[in-house]
Amino acid sequence: MEAHTNITKIDRCSGLSEKEFYNTYVKNSLPVVITDRGDWTTLEKFTPVYFKSNYNHLNRTIDGKTYPLSEIIDLCKSSTPENKAPYPNIYNVDRDFPEYPDDIPKMLYGKSNRLHSRLLPNFIAKRTNQQELFFGGKGCSFPTLHIDYLGVHTQLTQIIGEKDFILYPPNQTPYLYPDKIRSTQSPVNIINPDYDRFPLFKNAVAIKTTLQPGETLFIPAGWWHTTYIHNFNLTYAIDHVNSFNWNFFMDETYIAAKKSHPKLAWTIKVYKVIMGKVFNLKESLLN
Ligand SMILES: [Fe+2]
Repeated sequence: MEAHTNITKIDRCSGLSEKEFYNTYVKNSLPVVITDRGDWTTLEKFTPVYFKSNYNHLNRTIDGKTYPLSEIIDLCKSSTPENKAPYPNIYNVDRDFPEYPDDIPKMLYGKSNRLHSRLLPNFIAKRTNQQELFFGGKGCSFPTLHIDYLGVHTQLTQIIGEKDFILYPPNQTPYLYPDKIRSTQSPVNIINPDYDRFPLFKNAVAIKTTLQPGETLFIPAGWWHTTYIHNFNLTYAIDHVNSFNWNFFMDETYIAAKKSHPKLAWTIKVYKVIMGKVFNLKESLLN
């Protein structure tokens, strides 16, 4: 994958075709805020009351304490920077809301998403988180600056509240001190940086954007990111793999599979080459 050029702000666009989205943003590894609501005209349905009355059986353990969903929602609503709600509290849509996928609006520019293709075997697709919901409250921020797992792109749609996204392009990596073992994580606290420990961080240039309800942010593979929340918040995230990050995704998947399923892992290498060509052809026909 190639690093992007130097940009100082994130475009906000509407009405892009699949091809324009791919050629302008995906191919150049550039983030973009898509202001079209797409099928998210039903945002109003996904309210705190809806989740509390239908999904209170869902429990989440954060820092050793278990919370039912209604408590998470209440804590997020009363959250302040001094007394923050537990965060992150992530719900996997496929696992936690098994009937929900039919209800979730279609992904913007999802025609090129190989993770959702029937041609991608389950044991490969299931290695990603695919679809998640994040609740949050005022003062919460994602605990680490990170790159998403397995080299996926991510699309995040804001459902409730506003959320700041702080992004660093791949060419800023030398200033971010990637962890030696978990190389997709940075130990730098970007809100209150320790310049004695991380002096090069002074050189890092962030690009910020704020996502409003109904807007979607595309974060290209390999971009560092974290978030900061100003009010009660619900965000939907979906992983995205297309021709741009296919080889990287499949190579990372192979490395992970070699540890868990050494006898099956070789099939990933074969699949990468053969199906990569089929997917490329399919995507070249998108308009
Ligand atoms: Fe992420």
